[in-house]
Amino acid sequence: MTFDLTAMRAQFPILEQEVYGKPLVYLDNAASVQKPRAVIERMTDVLTGGYANVHRGLHFMSNKATADYETARESVRKYLNAASKDEIIFTMGGTDAINLVAHSLGVAQLQEGDEIILSVMEHHSNIVPWHLLRERKGIVLKWLDVSEDGDIDLAAFEALFSDRTKLVGVTGLSNVLGCEPPVQEMAEIAHAHNALMLVDGCQKSVHGPVDVQALGVDFYILTGHKVYGPNGIGVLYGRKKILDQMPPFRGGGEMIDKVTQDEVTYNDPPHRFEAGTPPITEAIALGAAVEWVMQQDIQGVQAHERALTDHAMEALGALNFITLYGRDPEKGPVVAFNLEGAHPHDVSTILDRSGVAVRAGHHCCQPLMHKLGVTATARASFAAYNSHEEIDVFVEALHKAHNMLG
Ligand code: ALA
Repeated sequence: MTFDLTAMRAQFPILEQEVYGKPLVYLDNAASVQKPRAVIERMTDVLTGGYANVHRGLHFMSNKATADYETARESVRKYLNAASKDEIIFTMGGTDAINLVAHSLGVAQLQEGDEIILSVMEHHSNIVPWHLLRERKGIVLKWLDVSEDGDIDLAAFEALFSDRTKLVGVTGLSNVLGCEPPVQEMAEIAHAHNALMLVDGCQKSVHGPVDVQALGVDFYILTGHKVYGPNGIGVLYGRKKILDQMPPFRGGGEMIDKVTQDEVTYNDPPHRFEAGTPPITEAIALGAAVEWVMQQDIQGVQAHERALTDHAMEALGALNFITLYGRDPEKGPVVAFNLEGAHPHDVSTILDRSGVAVRAGHHCCQPLMHKLGVTATARASFAAYNSHEEIDVFVEALHKAHNMLG
């Protein structure tokens, strides 16, 4: 296969739109990616030809929806190379998945004084659920510092462990710095200290299939809307022997074995963790999304995203009015920056009028912003369908912003 950008773009109907009379240049992919026809059509197919509740009815349509829902689970299993489909739990998103782990472990297995290690570049979704345990159970948070480019010193990491350390939570790819922590080595260190390893893979898993077994992690999280799928759906991968020992997060329909007036017993994973009617259409369409990614020329897409990132870093690096955050040459397609003397919200607003969509703010990473000595940055992030020409439009719009604000 060879990567064909024109053919790739043609699969994304939204890219045909103009905003303010200008072609849409969508560079906010780390916040949410656009959807290919394969996903849009799968959602339409479900709603027009195969929708009913799952795991409940005995009628034709329910059986069909249940089969499709479970096929989607198998697609996600394949995408993550999990050992078993029972290790794949559908959640309402990445945040929901991390809350599930924190709540379930917190209730059942963590005691006051137990320690959790988090990197300072975590998204709030991998910080606040643990802060809730700090507030409610007296869990201690220990912070792994990173360099300004996101490098991790593994010796400093190992020095954080004590015999109370129960879990490490780290991002698979920083949504600000773009760097990728050495997850496999960190998992080995965590396990040597009898701690569990959780990876927030919401940004990393967008860029191709993941091998959770090779990484040796205990929990891996992805979210549908960043992996070319719908929002409202996410995935928690958990090692079976760990999930088997975890109590439910939410209570409700289909997560039980038996309910009486006096007691309740629970279903096995994954169903134990899928209380209530799940996001059926979204789960099935997430299956279509990961199948779609697996059908692409993944190496070609990754090389294209690498070239886009290099192009943007070089072009922005040449501008004396821009500060870049995260300069790891191997980093993922995320470019955070500030324009001298200007608030990123103003920069984003001016770029928007040129048709260029970027995110501005703290990116739900306030501890990292604090470390970088800023309250906010602007951020451009690239996906398979972005082009070098779009980066040139973006850079031209930055010159305009500098003339207006600088
Ligand atoms: N986590 C998403 C971002 O970084 C929303 O923009």
